[in-house]
Amino acid sequence: MARVMVSTGRGGVGKSTFVAVAARYLASPKLVIDLDPDESLADMLGVDLGKSETTTISGLLYEAAAGSGPVGREKLLGEMQSVLRNRCLYRSQHFDLLTLGTKFTVGCYCAPDNVLKDSLAHLLQDYEHVLVDSPAGLEHLNRKVVSDITDLFLIIDPSDKSVKHVGRVQDIIGAVGIRYQHLYIVANHRFTAEHEKFTSGLDGTYLGKIDYDPELKRYNLEGRSLFELPDGSPAVASARAILEEAGYTVSRCN
Ligand SMILES: Nc1ncnc2c1ncn2[C@@H]1O[C@H](COP(=O)(O)OP(=O)(O)O)[C@@H](O)[C@H]1O
Ligand SMILES: [Mg+2]
Repeated sequence: MARVMVSTGRGGVGKSTFVAVAARYLASPKLVIDLDPDESLADMLGVDLGKSETTTISGLLYEAAAGSGPVGREKLLGEMQSVLRNRCLYRSQHFDLLTLGTKFTVGCYCAPDNVLKDSLAHLLQDYEHVLVDSPAGLEHLNRKVVSDITDLFLIIDPSDKSVKHVGRVQDIIGAVGIRYQHLYIVANHRFTAEHEKFTSGLDGTYLGKIDYDPELKRYNLEGRSLFELPDGSPAVASARAILEEAGYTVSRCN
């Protein structure tokens, strides 16, 4: 069964960066899932979904409803698993990628979330590692998109809001019945040694801090793949150390 890690936290704390680094260093076969409708993870992984003719789950549902794509509504409903794999799963030598995607219609993300929820058990059978990047905030937890998590990485910035966020995450996952084996707290690049003292009062296992990395900031600004960052870059090295601390075997895949 796959080891499922989920990166969560408030907006802009470094959730996607952490998943992108983990995608490079965890053993294959691995599936990366981008639950953020903003779809930024593909860029961070150096993937051009358009070029590979892969669509997002939201895109697939829109096409089927509008009758504008190769898969009609009936085929989609009848053969969801194979359609999802054929149309939405980006495959590469190092990782596969599944993207929830942006909706350009009025309404919530219940339908694409539900497709993913219903497909996850099938998908997990094919992978050793599944890495989930979350949208900002808490709603994805209420929706229980991923209900069985091995390692929940909660990334925090040095603010009272983040401290409260940790408590809310614990309350929600308890209330909605998300199962997890470990809840890890990770301090983001804005933490100083002084700030780190505050993590001792948090309810979760503190694993350390991601170091500030000007090169990573530049890569993100230029839309470059984080796979091109050197192994020794501060963010990459500290994220790897955190993964090792959580018990992962870390080795570069590209
Ligand atoms: N270790 C780091 N050092 C410097 N800047 C970082 C670091 N990690 C993330 N950032 C900056 O923070 C921004 C948000 O990071 P991102 O991973 O997209 O956060 P999230 O997914 O939580 O919204 C990035 O564009 C990047 O510029
Ligand atoms: Mg993100």
